[in-house]
Amino acid sequence: MQKLIIQGGFALKGELTVSGAKNAALPILCASLLAETPLHLSSVAALKDIDTTIKLLDTMGVKVVREADKVTLDASDVQSFEATYEMVKTMRASILVLGPLLARFGTARVSLPGGCAIGSRPVDLHIKGLQAMGAAIHITHGYIQASTLHLPNRRLQGARYYMDVVTVTGTENLMMAASLAEGKTVLENAAKEPEVVDLAECLIKMGANITGAGTDVITIVGVEKLHGASHNIVCDRIEAGTYMVAAAMTGGDVLLNNVRPDLLDAVIEKLREAGADVKCTKNTIHVKSDGKLKAVNIRTAPHPAFPTDMQAQLMALNVVATGVAKVTETIFENRFMHVQELQRLGADISIDGNTALVKGVAQLDGAIVMATDLRASASLVLAGLVAKGETVIERIYHLDRGYEYLEEKLTKLGAKVRRAN
Ligand code: EPZ
Repeated sequence: MQKLIIQGGFALKGELTVSGAKNAALPILCASLLAETPLHLSSVAALKDIDTTIKLLDTMGVKVVREADKVTLDASDVQSFEATYEMVKTMRASILVLGPLLARFGTARVSLPGGCAIGSRPVDLHIKGLQAMGAAIHITHGYIQASTLHLPNRRLQGARYYMDVVTVTGTENLMMAASLAEGKTVLENAAKEPEVVDLAECLIKMGANITGAGTDVITIVGVEKLHGASHNIVCDRIEAGTYMVAAAMTGGDVLLNNVRPDLLDAVIEKLREAGADVKCTKNTIHVKSDGKLKAVNIRTAPHPAFPTDMQAQLMALNVVATGVAKVTETIFENRFMHVQELQRLGADISIDGNTALVKGVAQLDGAIVMATDLRASASLVLAGLVAKGETVIERIYHLDRGYEYLEEKLTKLGAKVRRAN
């Protein structure tokens, strides 16, 4: 198992280029299954979850060519309509092949994703939405067995569907399925995340008829066929936010390029409230700080509210800020796995249900800690950057799922970070 070794105490200074968004690339890669001709993508980050998704599509018969950040996917000869447990257990976002497979081929067999470190992560709304479109779905032996063979022309039927919980991949799965359905689908209480909007923009380039993406009502009028297109993946707002927090915590001066400040309003607001100097242009964010930050209360909620994927990172900031902060997680039931690891570094955090009370401490002390999930791992890196002495973070495969060239990017900014086996 690989680990990261960090010497704390170095301010981050310089520039970095933000990569393409993991959580936009994953659904858009799966959208290739909908098209009869090749889909050409750029800004596809070099991440483990992207590798896993490409491997899954390849096993289905999608011809994938990848060169650096460019990926071309040709789904003209798909042979298999299945995502096995072995594939899905390594990455729950594999569920995103369900909607496209059903919409284009009328059949799909996808393993139910298990739970994960941050929560039970049900997919009941994905299933109910497809059933609302007429799909016959049975859960047998841990698999979702779905079919439209009983429907007129074997096609999903447009429907109005209200999602009683805001679900990002649920919205994405149903939007992709509805793109080829017969008639109009209206998704209500839809997720408004920028990654949902990026998927919609890509689908529209492929010939889909979608309006309302980015609002809580998305309308899709199904078409007969979708074709390939070219699409550049939107920047990764969570990667950007993570480096912004790193700059603020270390008393640094960092310019982020290839970033969309308009996707990060809630995070920018909190960093300014904490005392960082944040200046934005259309596609850059400049973060400067003296490292002396004030505690800020955080309450996660669906976009455009404060993102749950930045909760662990802001908790790390609060751990070394002045004052007491309340951090409330409203999306996932177990997204405080980073707390006990931060406590090993000297953090003063107490948990009461879905709220953590964080009392800032003057100094963290380096220690050996363990990564448990992607964003928890990021918070440990942030804490290690400011802790006294050496911090060793074990099981960093979690980090490799979502942060492209992490140690290279941090080293370029002056951090003392190295990977070891
Ligand atoms: C997406 O997960 C992201 N993953 C997550 O990012 C992110 O944390 C999450 O959205 C929330 O923003 C990808 O996009 C690949 P949800 P997703 O469905 O879609 C409940 C990261 O760190 N729910 O929006 O799986 C669910 O239990 C990852 O990059 C149902 O009850 O999350 C949760 O409480 C972690 N039934 C809430 O909705 C369903 O059918 C939001 O989950 C679906 C979800």
